[in-house]
Amino acid sequence: MTDSIDTATALGLDVRPIAGLIGAEIHGVDISKPLDPAVVAEIRATLLQWKVVFFRDQDLDPASHIAFGRLFGEVTPAHPTLPAMIPEHPEVLVLGRRNSAMDEEGRGREQPVIDSLWHTDVTFVPNPPMASILRGVIVPPYGGDTQWANLAKAYEELSPQIRELVDQLHAVHHNLLPLKRGEMPTKLAAQFASSAIRSVHPMVRVHPETGEKALFVNPNFTSHVLELSRPEGRHLLAMLYEHMSNARYTCRFRWEPGSVAMWDNRATAHLVPTDTPPEYERSMQRITLAGDVPVGPDGSASYVLEGEAFA
Ligand code: SIN
Repeated sequence: MTDSIDTATALGLDVRPIAGLIGAEIHGVDISKPLDPAVVAEIRATLLQWKVVFFRDQDLDPASHIAFGRLFGEVTPAHPTLPAMIPEHPEVLVLGRRNSAMDEEGRGREQPVIDSLWHTDVTFVPNPPMASILRGVIVPPYGGDTQWANLAKAYEELSPQIRELVDQLHAVHHNLLPLKRGEMPTKLAAQFASSAIRSVHPMVRVHPETGEKALFVNPNFTSHVLELSRPEGRHLLAMLYEHMSNARYTCRFRWEPGSVAMWDNRATAHLVPTDTPPEYERSMQRITLAGDVPVGPDGSASYVLEGEAFA
């Protein structure tokens, strides 16, 4: 017999963790409607605790998706270099598995999946988004799950000597790195490469709201470690990537029609699925909330090498 857990918050939201260290579903709230500030505060607190929160059976469209995001911060343009696909909603990034013309439902956008590496969104800018909110528009009946990793817990469970080392290091994040690996479809590559953006970030960032330290390295976009030789940096990054993607730090979310995921982009990485069955479509819409400039344990702030801040 399993023990039951008391999951109701002070406001009656029903918070149901889906894994031991990351991820919780929030039930009992209709996010398509304006929300009381106290409810917004509860959702934010749950997000800070569980790093990614999920809502089921929501009836959102692009406008209410954006309105929900605005309750938590400033909604950015869809992407620093990719064009918005819904002209009247330039904040919405449409992500789909098929490479064809988009229809009115947002289907058909070529998927910017780069051999699906674990990543944190848009870390090549000096102020990566603080959160992303992803809506399943068309989801397959099976396959196509997304996974997230808790980078604060992953940092916490490194050996003290490794923590001390990475606390002092900084790394370059570059938007063109996936292109250099040659993993992006041609049309998308041209859009993605329309401008080069590179920033230096601390390899550990101090969370501006919780004070937690979290690993801040990105298999998709981190090119090298500033203070180390290339081989040293490569091996250190490989070790950190293996560590942070240990199943212990992850959760996996099964999409259903009406599902929405919101993650703290300052303390998580996620993995886009590659197993959507070919006969099914998968179309998602994502918005991002403007983030601040990361700060490391030694107080050093991120800075841009090439390109501009994201706002
Ligand atoms: C994303 O990386 O924002 C998309 C994740 C997904 O499609 O599951």
